[in-house]
Amino acid sequence: MTIRPQPGILDIAPYVGGASRIDGRADVLKLSANENPYGPPPSALAAMAEALPNLHRYPSTDHAPLREAIGEVHGLDPDRIVIGVGSDEVLQFIAQAYAGPGDEVIHTEHGFSLYPILAHAAGATPVSVPERERVVDVDAILDRVGPATRVVYLTNPGNPTGTRLPEDELARLASSLPTSCLLVLDGAYAEFSDGFDGGAALVDAYDNVVMTRTFSKVYGLGGLRVGWGYGPAEVIDTLLRIRQPFNMSTISLIGAEAAVRDRDFVARCLAANAEGRARLTGGLRQLGIACDDSHTNFVLARFADEAAADAAETTLKTAGIIVRRVKGYGFPEGLRITVGRPEDVDAVLATLRERVAP
Ligand SMILES: Cc1ncc(COP(=O)(O)O)c(C=O)c1O
Repeated sequence: MTIRPQPGILDIAPYVGGASRIDGRADVLKLSANENPYGPPPSALAAMAEALPNLHRYPSTDHAPLREAIGEVHGLDPDRIVIGVGSDEVLQFIAQAYAGPGDEVIHTEHGFSLYPILAHAAGATPVSVPERERVVDVDAILDRVGPATRVVYLTNPGNPTGTRLPEDELARLASSLPTSCLLVLDGAYAEFSDGFDGGAALVDAYDNVVMTRTFSKVYGLGGLRVGWGYGPAEVIDTLLRIRQPFNMSTISLIGAEAAVRDRDFVARCLAANAEGRARLTGGLRQLGIACDDSHTNFVLARFADEAAADAAETTLKTAGIIVRRVKGYGFPEGLRITVGRPEDVDAVLATLRERVAP
């Protein structure tokens, strides 16, 4: 008998992240991972620097100050918040705790590529459900839900589509799912969607709805790896049982706490994003490149076909600009472009204009 991984593990196609380098170039403009172009909040950097001399101490295991800060800012019960190494880890806790061999985990056609990985890792079967014109289709999900369905992962607003499911449709999904199935509202981009609570009200209304959020996008802390989940008390209690006691470092906890309290930074970044997003969307459309209205910090540019997207990617790369190919998400003709600073948006549009100009 030889060593053998658990069922499902070898079915995992390893995650492929956005590129960050162009060979032979030091001056790249990275617009491939939906990072905040304005960097981390200075308030968070200062708080983390102040904490450095205490690194010989173990961090807190209950994460209380960060949970309380999140609770205060978002008007949520801190006792029903779990902190993870990015929202990735919270999404992982959910699959690990609620899905196993013989169970099904639903995700949508263009949803985040981590979901099937997590399903396989738990020994469960991932099930992909079609979207309609790049928007999550509630009826298609409900049609596919069966007795084996344990988890439904939903990216809302979507990545890489940037579209958003209207709140009445979200509510319809939450109210129609069987109580044996957990609905996970992945709100990695919720802040960018004006007036959207990420699904917090639905979490309060149902025993089987969870919301996940991140510090990696609008808070400019992708490198710190902090995310969180908000859910019913019983679900959070379950997730905490599988969380490692010291999953979060002292620096991560302190940096995230300072960031979530820095509402001025968030407001400035959101305003700049809204402006840049409108300009990028408008500019692409002027060039005859299709894109939906985005509720995120990126725009999915849809070219005529895969060859046109290849050509545009090469042109951008030659100008030192890295964007994200999204073939694996069902868009061979697409390029996902993060909304950068005003000069970044200008650079993208000017480069593409040269290419498509007669
Ligand atoms: C839809 C979605 N969910 C979750 C994540 C994970 O974010 P993090 O683990 O950095 O919190 C991402 C990251 O890009 C994402 O796009």
